[in-house]
Amino acid sequence: MTRNVYWHDTKVDRELREKLNGHPGACLWFTGLSGSGKSSLAAEVEYALHQNKIRTYLLDGDNVRHGLNKDLGFTEEERNENIRRVGEVAALMVDAGLVVLATFISPYRNDREAVRRLMPEDRFIEVFVDSDLEACEARDPKGLYKKARRGEIADFTGITAPYEKPERPELTVFNGSGADLQKNVRTILAYLEKEVFITSS
Ligand code: ADX
Repeated sequence: MTRNVYWHDTKVDRELREKLNGHPGACLWFTGLSGSGKSSLAAEVEYALHQNKIRTYLLDGDNVRHGLNKDLGFTEEERNENIRRVGEVAALMVDAGLVVLATFISPYRNDREAVRRLMPEDRFIEVFVDSDLEACEARDPKGLYKKARRGEIADFTGITAPYEKPERPELTVFNGSGADLQKNVRTILAYLEKEVFITSS
């Protein structure tokens, strides 16, 4: 498919862009059930990073499905393609020197591992937002679990479609009922400080 298509080298590379930005690029990949709180958590983390003058971008599943991926539904193949595309976008953003926060159910382990391979080593940080189905269903912010239980939505993750938990995520945050959002935000920021930004504080 890439026959007769060549790769152009650029004069400005990731290293130069990172130097200008004053910090490395990285991708925080939030995975978990619908209603597990990925978006709320990522929004808080992004705000804290922004306050600290870190250049960020949040790529959110629901939002991307209104634009770039509006042609995709929720079969296994369509989810594979959803994650492949957003993985490529996230990799470009990391190459641009940004800290990308990606929030997608991304239920298939292989898809997530494929995205990991698109980034330089250590720049892909898989964050498992661990919330039991009961808590997600009790929250049900969009009323989708109710619809899925009534049989009105096919292939619904956790009900009629699988979710494959990460085996070795860089981070797991418990976000079930009674979870402490701010504590989870601190856990993620502390990891970034230690493993990505490597500041002395
Ligand atoms: S993914 O599985 O392909 O990674 P993505 O994160 O983009 O999913 O989109 C998930 C969002 O789409 C959910 O938060 C929910 O609002 C909505 N949605 C609609 N139909 C489904 C479905 N069948 N399964 C899961 N989520 C769905």
